[in-house]
Amino acid sequence: MSVMGRVALVTGGAQGIGRAVVEALLRSGAKVSVVDINQSCGDVCKSELDAEFGGDNCAFIQCDVTDGHALRDAFQKTVELFGRLDIVINNAGINNEKNWEKTIDVNLTSLIKGTYLGLEHMSREHGKRGGTIVNVSSMAAFLHSPHQPVYTATKHGVIGFTRAMAVRLASGPEVRGTPLCSTLTFLVNLPTLSHAALQEPGEVWWRSPLRGRGGGGRSAEPPTTGLSSFQLEVCFC
Ligand SMILES: NC(=O)c1ccc[n+]([C@@H]2O[C@H](COP(=O)([O-])OP(=O)(O)OC[C@H]3O[C@@H](n4cnc5c(N)ncnc54)[C@H](O)[C@@H]3O)[C@@H](O)[C@H]2O)c1
Repeated sequence: MSVMGRVALVTGGAQGIGRAVVEALLRSGAKVSVVDINQSCGDVCKSELDAEFGGDNCAFIQCDVTDGHALRDAFQKTVELFGRLDIVINNAGINNEKNWEKTIDVNLTSLIKGTYLGLEHMSREHGKRGGTIVNVSSMAAFLHSPHQPVYTATKHGVIGFTRAMAVRLASGPEVRGTPLCSTLTFLVNLPTLSHAALQEPGEVWWRSPLRGRGGGGRSAEPPTTGLSSFQLEVCFC
């Protein structure tokens, strides 16, 4: 799938990995809605991106993804601003074992809401043209870190939910005759969006940019060494 001319929504996009993804999308010709809780960081992000990519290509929407109404509004506003939605990157995440309920809320519950909202705005079932959803997980899902059990649980959950959705969408009438895949891949490697549509329906696929230290593979768990993070990607165009 070419990113040129597409519209993307990235949660937690004002800094860190999300910001890198936003920049990669803008560089590839997409318009991007940056959805983040941090107003000051978002303002800085927006002005820097406007200076580099032009003011009409990027929007910052202040939103706490755990607020279901605000998240729904952020999706709606993105469509109103840019006229369509093609890519959703559910990236916002925290790692707070003391406030573990919040960690579940941000990392898993909100990601599920973001996925369903993405389907509402993009899937053929809802009369739209299809799109791509990228759900960000972590190697923590495979390495059972004793110091971050709740974070580990949320990232396990991201994989389980996304895989189940991939299979469900693959068998649904709305995607009959169209490609669907579930892909595990590194995050800041947006070209992966383009090879997603090449995979077989329902197939699990992962890839590492650390050449020679794992490479990539199909229908298998990624190696537990040599990798630091990955994302789970569902394409349902
Ligand atoms: N950094 C790593 O090494 C690593 C490794 C594996 C997975 N990940 C995952 O990648 C994603 C991004 O991580 P990062 O390292 O870039 O984090 P980060 O802390 O640098 O950025 C996270 C962004 O999410 C935003 N955010 C936090 N809570 C939010 C909320 N309730 N609503 C809206 N926005 C919110 C923050 O304001 C921030 O801009 C997370 O899901 C994380 O679990 C990170």
